[in-house]
Amino acid sequence: MGLRGYVADWTSVAAAADLPEGEMLEADNRGEPVVVARSGGSLYAFEGWCTHEECPLAEGTLTDQQLECYCHGAVFNIRTGEALVGPAVASLETYPVREQDGEIQVEM
Ligand code: FES
Repeated sequence: MGLRGYVADWTSVAAAADLPEGEMLEADNRGEPVVVARSGGSLYAFEGWCTHEECPLAEGTLTDQQLECYCHGAVFNIRTGEALVGPAVASLETYPVREQDGEIQVEM
């Protein structure tokens, strides 16, 4: 762990064609999972473990901007990361995400 600078560090995590509308995929963020979702024509990126008991969020159910964890039903806003419905209380970390040259890139 070190201090983070302010230089953008965009990392390609998937081909854009591999993430259709309404789908999620899990990618690697330096050994930790990051989930990228495409919903309502927008891209979202957020940490891969549920903040309740660390179930993989990529296995959850995506509806518009909301993701329901399949383990105990916590619901998060994937744009803000906010935990909307328990049992999760802590928000998800979210990341800037973009589509560039046919690739999905996340700013880690
Ligand atoms: S691990 Fe996600 S709701 Fe419990």
